[in-house]
Amino acid sequence: MIGILDSTLREGEQTPGVLFNMDQRVNIAKLLSDADVKMIEAGHPVVSEDIFNSIKYIMELKNSETIKSEIIAHSRAVNSDIDIASSLNIDRIAIFYGISDLHLKYKTHKTKEEALNIIYNSINYAKSYGIKIRFTAEDASRTDINFLRDVIKTAVSAGADRISIADTLGILTPERTKYIFNNINDIKNVEYDFHGHNDLGMAVANSLAAFESGATVIHATVNGLGERVGITPTQVIGTLLKYHYNLDVINLSLLRELSSTVEKYSNIQMPLNEPVTGSNAFIHKSGVHVNGIINNPETYEFMNPEIFGIQRSFTIDKYSGKHALIQKLNNLNIKPDENIISYALNEIKNSNKIYNDNDIISMVNNIKSYN
Ligand code: COA
Ligand code: ZN
Repeated sequence: MIGILDSTLREGEQTPGVLFNMDQRVNIAKLLSDADVKMIEAGHPVVSEDIFNSIKYIMELKNSETIKSEIIAHSRAVNSDIDIASSLNIDRIAIFYGISDLHLKYKTHKTKEEALNIIYNSINYAKSYGIKIRFTAEDASRTDINFLRDVIKTAVSAGADRISIADTLGILTPERTKYIFNNINDIKNVEYDFHGHNDLGMAVANSLAAFESGATVIHATVNGLGERVGITPTQVIGTLLKYHYNLDVINLSLLRELSSTVEKYSNIQMPLNEPVTGSNAFIHKSGVHVNGIINNPETYEFMNPEIFGIQRSFTIDKYSGKHALIQKLNNLNIKPDENIISYALNEIKNSNKIYNDNDIISMVNNIKSYN
């Protein structure tokens, strides 16, 4: 089954300047589960006692069925990390290892041969705990395709049933993403995750390309949080999969709540023009657009805002036309007679002002008294 893995609690808390507290982590996990997210990456337990305890609490909620999503803990390819993660009885462990030449040379100082042994042994070790295992090929997008294949085959033979293809630096394009998947899809007994960073603004497009070329789980974080400039935003990929493929990977009516909750907890304000959950997502402005919206909202809305639990609106300023103004006057229970409309439009066109409802009411009153 296709799904989202939400990593707000792991990747998301790796955002510079962001630390959640335990209550916030648990609330985020509950909200994600309520929204029917398939998998939640709950954190890397060895980071700190407080992260360990947050995952422990999330697992208590999982065991009492308050949380339903699959709960995953992150781990280096190190036995002590695996021991600590496994002690939490999580549903799945995600063991990661950087496999590009750069990562092998400068981070772990291992040859390819040694890396394959470490990957095999750590997965094999985790298997003794009887939990499901995902292996993350960190920096897969900058790895020679033949070595990536060797890594995948090694991880699968050791017991991983999922492999995450990580575009750790966000350097892929959709075409390049498809190339990678087309060159690994023949490997048997494995399903793929895609983890796309957004350094070049391509995370969403690459995630969609990964899905279209066979990945069955897409990694995302609420509001696109994550290392540096983050990864694929949960709200965008969730909506995109619904729009293009009619897939229900997240309850769209909870996206605004998820986004505003994470905004508050992370202290990172989303721009008004953020796709899907930005405040402007269903606010219209120019006269031609509002005219279309009045006649049929599908002219300028990709989906009905009610699906997201919100209402459309439009603004009034010099970009407005008569249809917008008439609609606005109707909404305000003001009889839109011809005179008022032409005087009001004239005034609006000659000022550089955004008119709220009160401005419109007083403008109309002034026009009436002047007449
Ligand atoms: N598997 C095994 N070892 C790995 C690894 C991996 N996937 N990735 C890095 N390492 C090794 C490095 O080679 C280095 O080893 P060394 O100490 O022998 O040189 C070490 O892990 C990382 O260095 P550092 O972070 O300074 O070590 P540390 O022991 O003080 O702390 C953590 C380790 C994990 C507790 C700490 O880095 C942390 O809290 N990290 C936050 C989580 C994180 O980094 N996540 C990345 C997700 S992609
Ligand atoms: Zn990442």
